Amino acid sequence: MIILGIETSCDETAVALVDNNRNLLAHRVFTQLEEHEAFGGVVPEVAARAHLQLLEPLLKQTLKDANLTLKEIDGVAVTCGPGLIGGVMVGVMMAKSIAVVHDKPFLAINHLAGHALMPRLTHDLKFPYLLLLVSGGHCQIVIVKSPVDFEVLGSTQDDAVGECFDKCAKMMGLPYPGGPHVEKVALTGDAKRFPLPRPLKGRTKDGMACQFSFSGLKSAVRRQIEKLGESLSEKDIADLCASLQLAVADTLKDRLTNALEFCANSSQKLTALVVSGGVAANQFLRDNLEELAKDFELPFVAPPLNLCTDNGAMIAWAGVEKMLLKAVDDLDFKPRPRWPLDDIYPSSFKLWPFKTATNRCPHV
Ligand code: KG4
Ligand code: ZN
Repeated sequence: MIILGIETSCDETAVALVDNNRNLLAHRVFTQLEEHEAFGGVVPEVAARAHLQLLEPLLKQTLKDANLTLKEIDGVAVTCGPGLIGGVMVGVMMAKSIAVVHDKPFLAINHLAGHALMPRLTHDLKFPYLLLLVSGGHCQIVIVKSPVDFEVLGSTQDDAVGECFDKCAKMMGLPYPGGPHVEKVALTGDAKRFPLPRPLKGRTKDGMACQFSFSGLKSAVRRQIEKLGESLSEKDIADLCASLQLAVADTLKDRLTNALEFCANSSQKLTALVVSGGVAANQFLRDNLEELAKDFELPFVAPPLNLCTDNGAMIAWAGVEKMLLKAVDDLDFKPRPRWPLDDIYPSSFKLWPFKTATNRCPHV
């Protein structure tokens, strides 16, 4: 079974082809850096227009890479949310058109489910596993129980981790997106120089044990910058980046420790500690999480670096997982700008193939 995956929910236009034997047949990602760099962040309208221009050539190129035609695929999976709705609609309309013209199953994929299931494409990973999902828009701890069953233990009350990295980087004059630059600059920095807060560290009561909050950390970085005055030296920036990265690592480990203890106490037998999402590309965080997994005698799993940030492979793979459950969606599926993981698949999905005289979708 070969599934086409399309991702257009933020600033990556991405297409991939994946089969049910976990082979990544082709994958192309175009990151709209130049388009948004001048604004220091993603501009939704600009992103949507860029997706519109880029998607078709990228699709053709990806099919060519795999030496396949649309007739040969078995389904089309697309991010239907959460994300910037203009971009999401570009991808969804392309996917629906392919599904109609070529009479293929349509698979509406939750972007977060894509990140959450991605590690099962690259690793032999069984359910249930504890997932730390850290990206530009999200920060969540989730028990992944099946391709359609996610228990969210906690999420951020304000900023996501990637957002915190990006905003702090911008304050220090580093290019967009800031996360990878913070990691690079931090390599030469002194992580002990600036005493930054570890938001919510130690909080285990009132339903806060697995929650996050990063806006206070961001404000603390701003205050440090203000104290340092007009021009930051290279050393100041390196030390600030290293201190920020350490504060984030400590915070993530503290929250995950609570989650792992919760799972142990509720006899939830986990198979692994998994990290995914754009921020999972950070090697310092990966090393810290690997240590934590060792303390709990769990394997640690992280996708390859190039598949941490948004890509089409994760959407295609989530499509494979849905197809294996024979769960496909109606063509009137509405894109959802907000779509929580624990509200994953509304009652809309149907079994494919529909038993009609022509074996075509009843709604086509
Ligand atoms: O998953 P993703 O591509 O898009 C969303 O769904 O949000 O994540 C993008 C985020 C950005 O905030 C970016 O700065 C961050 O991931 N990121 C990193 C690194 N690479 C990407 N953060 C820290 N260290 C990195 N190496
Ligand atoms: Zn993402």
